[in-house]
Formats: sequence, structure tokens, C-alpha cells
Amino acid sequence: MGVKKVLILNGSPRAPRSNSRRYAALFTQFCGLETESMDLLRADPKAVAERLEAVSDVLLIFPLYADAIPVPVLRAFKALEEAPPQNRPTLSVLVNCGFLEPEQSDVAVAMVELFCKRMGWPVGSVLEIGSGEAILDQPFRVFARWKIRTLARAVTAGRHRRLKVTMPISKKFFLKASTKYWTDYGARNGITAEQMATMEIEGSLPDDR
Ligand SMILES: Cc1cc2nc3c(=O)[nH]c(=O)nc-3n(C[C@H](O)[C@H](O)[C@H](O)COP(=O)(O)O)c2cc1C
Repeated sequence: MGVKKVLILNGSPRAPRSNSRRYAALFTQFCGLETESMDLLRADPKAVAERLEAVSDVLLIFPLYADAIPVPVLRAFKALEEAPPQNRPTLSVLVNCGFLEPEQSDVAVAMVELFCKRMGWPVGSVLEIGSGEAILDQPFRVFARWKIRTLARAVTAGRHRRLKVTMPISKKFFLKASTKYWTDYGARNGITAEQMATMEIEGSLPDDR
């Protein structure tokens, strides 16, 4: 591999409007290497594998979903295990979760590490972001930017770092503020807090599917 280049893979199920996309933009801003981006959501697995042949590094960016990796990432892993590229890029991870504690993502990171082990790909750096839904829209965004810059510099220099960042507030305050945020969000869309606490989605119960 001659030129060093980073392929940023966005694994968010809502890729075009995702927080992951905003994190990717910050990474690109701070990265000293050439970067290109791809959303896994609708990507053809063959096209992903082809692009992987031409890069030295991958930055996999995704949200934590049900304590694990979201479906677009799982699908890409399955396809790549079935038809592995010849090239073995170093894979770094930026995972963001809705809860305050970045450690919520430890299991998801372990899943990515297992994938790398099976593929024979080196693991690069890891950044876990807590309060990932909110931090970029708060004054605390400076903390997130700073850590993304540290991640970008580590990837650029080929260093292997484990990084974490979250909002520096108490769990109690976070819970209060986030409950108010989602309750207000629901109200703007005509949904009460009680309705949000049920399994019903847009008028259909899970059994109806
Ligand atoms: C279906 C679903 C499951 C989620 N599961 C978790 C979870 O287990 N833990 C957590 O901290 N956040 C969870 N979240 C919150 C997301 O990780 C968070 O909103 C994130 O910022 C979304 O990133 P994105 O916009 O890049 O998709 C979940 C969100 C959704 C929609």
C-alpha cells in the first residue's frame, strides 16, 4: 500500500441525517490523510469491498443500537466475511451512544474487534462518545471536537489509542434534561410520554407485523 488513505464508513441506519455524519465531517476536518466517505445503509457490499482494496485505513462510524452494532454494520461484516478483500486495512472506530456513559459501547467495540480478528485486520484507534445525540448541540461540543481531533491525529500518525468523551454533567441531571428533551419532542409530534413508553409504532403493535 503506497499512499495512505482513510475510507470512512457510516454505519448509521439514518445515515443521511445522522449524528455519525456530523462526527465524520469533524474527523475529515482534522485528519491529515486523504479521506473518502461511504454510507453502509444502501451500499452494495461489492462496492464496499472494492473501495477497501484501495485504502490503508478504515474509520467505522456508527451509533450504538440496543447495546450492539446496528444492522447496516452487521450486514457489511457478514458480506465482507463471505467475500473478503485482498487488502487488510487498519480499522479504527468512532461509536456514539445516546446514554451518558461511553462505556455503554464497550460490547459493540468488542464485536468490531472480533470481526477484525477474524479478518486478520489490525485494530487502530477507538473513540467512544457518550451523550452522542446531544453533545454537538451543546457548549460541551468543544470536548467532542477535541477528542475527534485526537482520534484524527492518532489515525494520521498510525497510533493505536483508546479514547472516550461525554458531557461533564451528573447522571441525574442528564436524565432530567434528556427526559424533558424527548417529552417535548414527542409533544411537537402529537405523542405523549405514555405513548412513547409503549411498544406501539405508528399504530401497529409488534404482533401485527
Ligand atoms: C433503535 C435504537 C436503539 C438505540 N439503542 C441505544 C442503546 O442501546 N444505548 C444507547 O446509549 N443509545 C442507544 N440509541 C441512541 C443512539 O445511539 C443515538 O441516538 C445516536 O446518537 C444515533 O446516532 P446516528 O444519528 O448516527 O444514527 C438507540 C437509538 C435507536 C434509534
